Amino acid sequence: MNNIESIEAISRLKGKEKVRVLFVCLGNICRSPAADGIMQAVVAEHGDEARWEIDSAGTGGYHVGDLPDNRMRIHARRRGYELNHICRQVRYSDFDDFDLIIPMDANNEMNLKRLSPSLENEAKIVPMAKFIDMALRYDYIPDPYYEGAEGFELVLNLLENGCANLYDVVSRVIK
Ligand code: 4NP
Repeated sequence: MNNIESIEAISRLKGKEKVRVLFVCLGNICRSPAADGIMQAVVAEHGDEARWEIDSAGTGGYHVGDLPDNRMRIHARRRGYELNHICRQVRYSDFDDFDLIIPMDANNEMNLKRLSPSLENEAKIVPMAKFIDMALRYDYIPDPYYEGAEGFELVLNLLENGCANLYDVVSRVIK
């Protein structure tokens, strides 16, 4: 969270009418659709839907067309989030269609950098962990796929913290 407004992709948002954010993980069935649903809820709480476009995608294509993982849907529902995103894979046009591309971990970040059509596009990649400042410090969002219930709860805790901060930081910049 230190100096986050000096990150190029964030400072470039200044004066923009609409901010387009793409959350990215490996499968697009656990972490990134949860981030997508939580961010939609944060934006709706502020009545700010007109200024935000939010989506999610996976670097892998194993689950394309699927709803989010049932375990993630159940844990999210208990917090009031209905996750109905249909899984899709990242595509080249995402680098033009979004202002911020937010990977959940270092592996997702590396794969996005490999896919990025240009250095200018690569600068849109800002890891989710940059927005996290809860006491329990994580420098990535851990993959819950092979974990138990606590793995899903941890992901949701981290994402709620990160999405609230992402909203605050971006709102300050775009005004
Ligand atoms: P996600 O979790 O990247 O947070 O959606 C995963 C989902 C599926 C797989 C791995 C991670 N998988 O190997 O199928």
